[in-house]
Amino acid sequence: MKNNLQILLKEDQNKKFFDLLARYYDKGIVGNWLFSVIEKTINSVNIKKSSKILDVGTGTGNLFYLLEKQNKNLNLYGIDISKRMLTIAGKKVKTAEFIKISVLLLEKKFPRKFFDYIFVIDAFHHFPYQKNVMSNFYNILKINGRLVITELDFGFIFNYFFHMIEPGNEWLYTKKELKNLFLETGFLIEKQKKIGTFAVMTVGVKYKNSKLIKNKHFRR
Ligand SMILES: C[S@@+](CC[C@H](N)C(=O)[O-])C[C@H]1O[C@@H](n2cnc3c(N)ncnc32)[C@H](O)[C@@H]1O
Repeated sequence: MKNNLQILLKEDQNKKFFDLLARYYDKGIVGNWLFSVIEKTINSVNIKKSSKILDVGTGTGNLFYLLEKQNKNLNLYGIDISKRMLTIAGKKVKTAEFIKISVLLLEKKFPRKFFDYIFVIDAFHHFPYQKNVMSNFYNILKINGRLVITELDFGFIFNYFFHMIEPGNEWLYTKKELKNLFLETGFLIEKQKKIGTFAVMTVGVKYKNSKLIKNKHFRR
Protein backbone atom coordinates (compact mmCIF):
# COMPACT_ATOMS: atom_id res chain seq x y z
CA MET A 1 0.00 0.00 0.00
CA LYS A 2 1.46 3.34 -1.01
CA ASN A 3 1.52 6.28 1.38
CA ASN A 4 0.48 9.82 0.49
CA LEU A 5 4.05 10.95 -0.06
CA GLN A 6 4.64 8.20 -2.63
CA ILE A 7 1.41 9.20 -4.40
CA LEU A 8 2.44 12.85 -4.47
CA LEU A 9 5.87 11.92 -5.83
CA LYS A 10 4.31 9.79 -8.59
CA GLU A 11 1.92 12.59 -9.55
CA ASP A 12 4.82 14.99 -9.63
CA GLN A 13 6.72 12.56 -11.85
CA ASN A 14 3.73 12.46 -14.26
CA LYS A 15 3.37 16.22 -14.21
CA LYS A 16 7.05 16.78 -15.02
CA PHE A 17 7.04 14.05 -17.67
CA PHE A 18 4.03 15.49 -19.54
CA ASP A 19 5.18 19.08 -19.12
CA LEU A 20 8.38 18.03 -20.88
CA LEU A 21 6.57 15.98 -23.53
CA ALA A 22 3.84 18.56 -24.26
CA ARG A 23 5.38 20.32 -27.22
CA TYR A 24 6.21 17.03 -28.98
CA TYR A 25 3.05 15.16 -27.97
CA ASP A 26 0.99 15.73 -31.13
CA LYS A 27 3.89 15.14 -33.50
CA GLY A 28 5.37 12.13 -35.28
CA ILE A 29 4.15 8.58 -35.78
CA VAL A 30 3.15 8.08 -32.14
CA GLY A 31 1.21 11.39 -32.10
CA ASN A 32 -0.67 10.40 -35.26
CA TRP A 33 -1.39 6.95 -33.91
CA LEU A 34 -2.75 8.34 -30.62
CA PHE A 35 -4.92 10.78 -32.58
CA SER A 36 -6.36 7.91 -34.63
CA VAL A 37 -7.14 6.00 -31.42
CA ILE A 38 -9.19 8.99 -30.23
CA GLU A 39 -11.00 9.24 -33.58
CA LYS A 40 -11.90 5.55 -33.47
CA THR A 41 -13.10 5.86 -29.87
CA ILE A 42 -15.43 8.75 -30.76
CA ASN A 43 -16.76 6.90 -33.78
CA SER A 44 -17.72 4.00 -31.53
CA VAL A 45 -19.81 6.08 -29.11
CA ASN A 46 -23.09 7.69 -30.06
CA ILE A 47 -22.91 10.97 -28.15
CA LYS A 48 -26.24 12.73 -27.64
CA LYS A 49 -26.67 16.45 -28.30
CA SER A 50 -26.15 18.92 -25.41
CA SER A 51 -24.40 16.29 -23.24
CA LYS A 52 -22.06 17.18 -20.39
CA ILE A 53 -18.72 15.53 -21.05
CA LEU A 54 -15.63 15.17 -18.88
CA ASP A 55 -12.26 14.20 -20.37
CA VAL A 56 -9.91 13.02 -17.61
CA GLY A 57 -6.22 13.36 -18.43
CA THR A 58 -7.32 15.45 -21.39
CA GLY A 59 -3.72 16.22 -22.46
CA THR A 60 -3.49 18.46 -25.51
CA GLY A 61 -7.27 18.43 -26.00
CA ASN A 62 -7.55 16.20 -29.07
CA LEU A 63 -10.79 14.56 -27.96
CA PHE A 64 -12.55 17.90 -27.60
CA TYR A 65 -10.93 19.23 -30.79
CA LEU A 66 -12.74 16.44 -32.64
CA LEU A 67 -15.99 16.66 -30.65
CA GLU A 68 -16.23 20.43 -31.12
CA LYS A 69 -16.40 19.85 -34.89
CA GLN A 70 -19.53 17.73 -34.49
CA ASN A 71 -21.57 20.85 -33.55
CA LYS A 72 -23.65 19.00 -30.98
CA ASN A 73 -23.81 21.85 -28.48
CA LEU A 74 -21.80 19.84 -25.98
CA ASN A 75 -20.64 21.04 -22.55
CA LEU A 76 -16.98 20.12 -22.42
CA TYR A 77 -14.80 19.88 -19.29
CA GLY A 78 -11.21 18.65 -19.40
CA ILE A 79 -8.93 18.05 -16.43
CA ASP A 80 -5.21 17.34 -16.31
CA ILE A 81 -2.23 17.87 -13.98
CA SER A 82 0.11 19.13 -16.70
CA LYS A 83 -0.04 22.89 -17.23
CA ARG A 84 1.80 22.68 -20.55
CA MET A 85 -0.50 20.03 -22.00
CA LEU A 86 -3.49 22.17 -20.95
CA THR A 87 -2.00 25.31 -22.51
CA ILE A 88 -1.94 23.55 -25.88
CA ALA A 89 -5.46 22.22 -25.33
CA GLY A 90 -6.72 25.73 -24.57
CA LYS A 91 -5.32 27.04 -27.85
CA LYS A 92 -6.97 24.24 -29.84
CA VAL A 93 -10.41 24.19 -28.27
CA LYS A 94 -12.23 27.38 -27.42
CA THR A 95 -15.55 26.02 -26.16
CA ALA A 96 -14.17 23.74 -23.41
CA GLU A 97 -13.36 24.50 -19.80
CA PHE A 98 -9.90 23.16 -18.97
CA ILE A 99 -9.01 22.77 -15.31
CA LYS A 100 -5.63 21.92 -13.83
CA ILE A 101 -6.43 19.39 -11.12
CA SER A 102 -5.61 15.81 -10.28
CA VAL A 103 -8.09 13.02 -10.97
CA LEU A 104 -8.06 12.47 -7.19
CA LEU A 105 -9.90 15.77 -6.66
CA LEU A 106 -12.77 15.13 -9.07
CA GLU A 107 -15.42 14.65 -6.42
CA LYS A 108 -14.41 17.93 -4.74
CA LYS A 109 -14.70 19.80 -8.03
CA PHE A 110 -17.90 18.33 -9.50
CA PRO A 111 -21.24 17.40 -7.93
CA ARG A 112 -22.65 13.87 -7.97
CA LYS A 113 -24.66 12.81 -11.04
CA PHE A 114 -23.29 15.67 -13.13
CA PHE A 115 -21.90 14.13 -16.33
CA ASP A 116 -23.47 12.20 -19.20
CA TYR A 117 -20.11 10.86 -20.37
CA ILE A 118 -16.65 10.52 -18.89
CA PHE A 119 -13.79 9.75 -21.27
CA VAL A 120 -10.34 8.55 -20.25
CA ILE A 121 -8.06 7.97 -23.21
CA ASP A 122 -4.56 6.57 -22.75
CA ALA A 123 -4.42 8.08 -19.27
CA PHE A 124 -5.89 5.59 -16.79
CA HIS A 125 -2.57 3.77 -16.30
CA HIS A 126 -1.09 7.01 -14.91
CA PHE A 127 -3.69 7.43 -12.15
CA PRO A 128 -3.02 6.52 -8.51
CA TYR A 129 -5.69 4.70 -6.44
CA GLN A 130 -7.28 3.34 -9.61
CA LYS A 131 -10.15 1.58 -7.77
CA ASN A 132 -11.10 4.74 -5.87
CA VAL A 133 -10.87 6.74 -9.06
CA MET A 134 -13.38 4.36 -10.69
CA SER A 135 -15.81 4.89 -7.80
CA ASN A 136 -15.43 8.65 -8.16
CA PHE A 137 -16.23 8.37 -11.88
CA TYR A 138 -19.30 6.35 -10.95
CA ASN A 139 -20.49 8.97 -8.45
CA ILE A 140 -20.19 12.00 -10.73
CA LEU A 141 -21.93 10.26 -13.65
CA LYS A 142 -25.68 10.60 -14.10
CA ILE A 143 -27.86 7.49 -14.13
CA ASN A 144 -27.48 6.04 -17.65
CA GLY A 145 -24.20 7.95 -17.96
CA ARG A 146 -21.32 6.26 -19.76
CA LEU A 147 -17.71 5.77 -18.72
CA VAL A 148 -15.49 5.28 -21.77
CA ILE A 149 -11.93 4.12 -21.10
CA THR A 150 -9.59 3.52 -24.00
CA GLU A 151 -6.31 2.07 -22.84
CA LEU A 152 -3.21 0.52 -24.28
CA ASP A 153 -3.02 -3.24 -23.83
CA PHE A 154 0.04 -5.27 -24.80
CA GLY A 155 -0.98 -8.38 -22.83
CA PHE A 156 -0.07 -9.07 -19.20
CA ILE A 157 3.69 -9.62 -19.60
CA PHE A 158 4.36 -6.62 -21.83
CA ASN A 159 1.98 -4.46 -19.77
CA TYR A 160 4.14 -5.29 -16.77
CA PHE A 161 7.28 -4.44 -18.71
CA PHE A 162 5.74 -1.14 -19.85
CA HIS A 163 4.75 -0.43 -16.24
CA MET A 164 8.41 -0.85 -15.25
CA ILE A 165 9.87 1.43 -17.93
CA GLU A 166 7.31 4.23 -18.46
CA PRO A 167 7.68 7.17 -16.04
CA GLY A 168 4.60 7.59 -13.83
CA ASN A 169 2.94 4.35 -14.96
CA GLU A 170 0.81 3.12 -12.03
CA TRP A 171 -0.59 -0.05 -13.64
CA LEU A 172 -1.72 -0.98 -17.14
CA TYR A 173 -4.79 -3.24 -17.02
CA THR A 174 -5.37 -6.00 -19.56
CA LYS A 175 -8.73 -6.11 -21.38
CA LYS A 176 -10.06 -8.73 -18.95
CA GLU A 177 -8.75 -6.97 -15.82
CA LEU A 178 -10.36 -3.72 -16.94
CA LYS A 179 -13.69 -5.40 -17.60
CA ASN A 180 -13.62 -6.83 -14.07
CA LEU A 181 -12.74 -3.43 -12.64
CA PHE A 182 -15.80 -1.89 -14.34
CA LEU A 183 -18.03 -4.66 -12.98
CA GLU A 184 -16.58 -4.42 -9.45
CA THR A 185 -17.27 -0.68 -9.44
CA GLY A 186 -20.91 -1.26 -10.36
CA PHE A 187 -20.94 -0.52 -14.09
CA LEU A 188 -22.61 -2.72 -16.64
CA ILE A 189 -20.47 -3.37 -19.67
CA GLU A 190 -22.09 -1.95 -22.78
CA LYS A 191 -19.21 -2.61 -25.11
CA GLN A 192 -15.59 -3.72 -25.10
CA LYS A 193 -13.57 -3.87 -28.28
CA LYS A 194 -10.11 -3.56 -29.72
CA ILE A 195 -9.16 -0.22 -31.23
CA GLY A 196 -6.33 -1.24 -33.54
CA THR A 197 -3.69 -3.69 -32.37
CA PHE A 198 -2.63 -2.21 -29.03
CA ALA A 199 -5.65 -0.39 -27.62
CA VAL A 200 -8.93 -1.50 -26.09
CA MET A 201 -12.07 0.56 -25.56
CA THR A 202 -14.41 -0.33 -22.69
CA VAL A 203 -17.77 1.39 -22.25
CA GLY A 204 -19.62 1.01 -18.95
CA VAL A 205 -23.12 2.24 -18.14
CA LYS A 206 -24.30 3.41 -14.75
CA TYR A 207 -27.75 1.90 -14.45
CA LYS A 208 -30.01 2.76 -11.56
CA ASN A 209 -29.62 -0.66 -9.99
CA SER A 210 -26.32 -1.62 -11.51
CA LYS A 211 -24.63 -2.16 -8.11
CA LEU A 212 -27.39 -4.67 -7.36
CA ILE A 213 -27.10 -6.37 -10.72
CA LYS A 214 -23.35 -6.54 -10.26
CA ASN A 215 -23.72 -8.35 -6.94
CA LYS A 216 -26.04 -10.90 -8.53
CA HIS A 217 -23.49 -11.35 -11.29
CA PHE A 218 -20.79 -12.20 -8.76
CA ARG A 219 -22.99 -14.52 -6.72
CA ARG A 220 -23.75 -16.74 -9.70
C1 LIG B 1 -0.72 9.86 -22.49
S1 LIG B 1 -1.51 11.38 -22.07
C2 LIG B 1 -3.10 11.21 -22.85
C3 LIG B 1 -3.71 12.55 -23.21
C4 LIG B 1 -5.03 12.49 -23.97
N1 LIG B 1 -6.05 11.79 -23.22
C5 LIG B 1 -4.84 11.88 -25.33
O1 LIG B 1 -5.29 10.75 -25.54
O2 LIG B 1 -4.23 12.52 -26.17
C6 LIG B 1 -1.91 11.15 -20.33
C7 LIG B 1 -2.38 12.42 -19.66
O3 LIG B 1 -2.82 12.11 -18.33
C8 LIG B 1 -2.43 13.19 -17.49
N2 LIG B 1 -2.38 12.73 -16.08
C9 LIG B 1 -1.47 11.91 -15.52
N3 LIG B 1 -1.73 11.74 -14.22
C10 LIG B 1 -2.84 12.47 -13.94
C11 LIG B 1 -3.60 12.70 -12.76
N4 LIG B 1 -3.25 12.16 -11.59
N5 LIG B 1 -4.69 13.50 -12.83
C12 LIG B 1 -5.03 14.07 -14.02
N6 LIG B 1 -4.35 13.90 -15.17
C13 LIG B 1 -3.26 13.10 -15.14
C14 LIG B 1 -1.07 13.59 -18.03
O4 LIG B 1 -0.66 14.87 -17.60
C15 LIG B 1 -1.30 13.47 -19.54
O5 LIG B 1 -1.71 14.69 -20.10
